[in-house]
Amino acid sequence: MTDTTQEGAPSQALSFELKCTDGRARRGRVTVTHGSFETPAFMPVGTRGTVKGMTPRDLRETGAEICLGNTYHLNIAPGGKIVKKLGGLHGMMGWDAPILTDSGGFQVFSLPKLEIEEEGVTFAFKKGGKAIQLTPERSMQIQEALGADIIMAFDHVVAHPAPYQLAEEAVYRTSRWLERCRKAHTRTDQALFGIVQGSTFPNLRRLSVELICSQDLPGYAIGGLSVGEGHQLMMDTIDQTEPFMPAEKPRYLMGVGYPEDLVEAVARGVDMFDCVLPSRLARSGIIFTRHGRYRVTKGRYKADKFPLDTNCNCYACRNFSRAYVNHLINSKEILGSVLATLHNITFYQDLMRAMRQAIEEGRFESFRRAFLDEYLSDDR
Ligand code: GUN
Ligand code: ZN
Repeated sequence: MTDTTQEGAPSQALSFELKCTDGRARRGRVTVTHGSFETPAFMPVGTRGTVKGMTPRDLRETGAEICLGNTYHLNIAPGGKIVKKLGGLHGMMGWDAPILTDSGGFQVFSLPKLEIEEEGVTFAFKKGGKAIQLTPERSMQIQEALGADIIMAFDHVVAHPAPYQLAEEAVYRTSRWLERCRKAHTRTDQALFGIVQGSTFPNLRRLSVELICSQDLPGYAIGGLSVGEGHQLMMDTIDQTEPFMPAEKPRYLMGVGYPEDLVEAVARGVDMFDCVLPSRLARSGIIFTRHGRYRVTKGRYKADKFPLDTNCNCYACRNFSRAYVNHLINSKEILGSVLATLHNITFYQDLMRAMRQAIEEGRFESFRRAFLDEYLSDDR
């Protein structure tokens, strides 16, 4: 364990304390307007201003210290104006802790769109009869109305695999759009993060890091991954990106991932993650445990009296059986989704806590080996 306690560049909106490192793994703490969160951190996704099925009280109980909202969806409903009237996302949701909003950039890649131009992106979806247009300025304006603690630059994400030319164009465009985001961003109580793109081309990742991280911001994200490239290529791409990012600022790997992705990315110096997986998979009955995932809706769990995870102390595991959750989800009872979500997010938060502790105690490498051994073994 190396002690590297230091403060990042002064910023009113965010400070990052890197407490210690263990190999490339980092243990830190991020402080923003609505409080602090310990890193490495996992942020559950509340796309429309709710982590599906979770009250903020539930979410807190999982150990989550920060959650995520999405500009594209919240702009469609209820709209930035209404959210602002309700006290911003914090007031509307009744979540008084840190929030991060994504810019809508990912929807450039994942939704049907009419045009991508230098000005911005026009989506096929219509709101009040008008096609939705997002530009860097509009994304900043909406994210200022939503009022999250951390907001993301509007970027150009390309699908995988991407032709080199397109990936290169997206790198330069993402950099120009970041300059426009910085100019348009006025709220000093919000921290704006830049996003590195470059698909899986090592030289484009290098170029993108140079273009993005030379713009002075409180934090930076690695984007454009978890788009079908697979685990190994994702890790190789992080290896071609992370070493060139500034050590004194938080690094956020967007949209990742499975537990094995989180462990391997923490080993490579990533501080923050978000992903819909634990909540989305929970709703179809997929349960995460130390020994891997299983589907609790299968017939073999119909009379199983054990909790979802015998190593878990969440409300669902303390009080209910696999048989009950099997029945609830198979009967389409919403409580089934609620209990499975509560467990899966707790599992992710417990994993992050275990990683933080291992880094602090200088035994991350052995933790990583033991976790992957147990998690990826086929004894279930
Ligand atoms: N979510 C997952 N990946 C990305 C990305 O590359 N950009 C944005 N804006 N959001 C993401
Ligand atoms: Zn549990």
